[in-house]
Amino acid sequence: MSDFLIAPSILSADFARLGEEVDNVIASGCDVVHFDVMDNHYVPNLTIGPLVCDALRSHGVTAPIDVHLMVKPVDRIIPDFAKAGASFITFHPEASEHIDRSLSLIRESGCKSGLVFNPATPLDYLNYVMDKVDVVLLMSVNPGFGGQSFIPATLDKLRQARKMIDDSGYDIRLEVDGGVKVDNIAEIASAGADMFVAGSGIFGGANDSDANTYDTIVAQFRDELAKV
Ligand code: DX5
Ligand code: ZN
Repeated sequence: MSDFLIAPSILSADFARLGEEVDNVIASGCDVVHFDVMDNHYVPNLTIGPLVCDALRSHGVTAPIDVHLMVKPVDRIIPDFAKAGASFITFHPEASEHIDRSLSLIRESGCKSGLVFNPATPLDYLNYVMDKVDVVLLMSVNPGFGGQSFIPATLDKLRQARKMIDDSGYDIRLEVDGGVKVDNIAEIASAGADMFVAGSGIFGGANDSDANTYDTIVAQFRDELAKV
């Protein structure tokens, strides 16, 4: 995998043609499939579960699948996603009574583990579980919906998280999710992120989900990242 990972959020894809949409964004040079799981309880929206993850694997998707759990509680569903082919599983600390246990459960299930921080959630939790996370995900919007604007305070928080990760010496990805577009990805990368979720920024820019349009947008993301 390259230094900078681009992770299209399929929340903004055409669900009626999901396998083809994923094939097209991966063919356009994206690295990871970002898979948003919402339960109409932890967040006020309802999306997709392990069956859909399994369906993408059966369809032939071999790229890593990054399962972003916006569900509460989290433990019961973790093994189901591992069996369905998830590569990464991340969750919000507010959604688990036992964060350390949930992180361990993800790794024991054979997946890479991560914690997700809402815009107003402090990074303090990380200090105690740095050895148990493979990815730190900072939300740059409030979770629940695609198409929201990037919250600028995330840039300082990214710098803080980058320092914590570097100081720890662990090999941990710093992922950002929400409002990432061609015109801000370079600034976000400069603040320390190395894994970029983009939903509307990739799928929303396409005309009739034309695969060639994904090529153009992903190339623009890469050009911006090359400037960092
Ligand atoms: C929001 C989700 C995001 C969302 C991002 O709760 O976690 O992954 O799809 O969408 P954009 O890139 O449109 O902000
Ligand atoms: Zn997400």
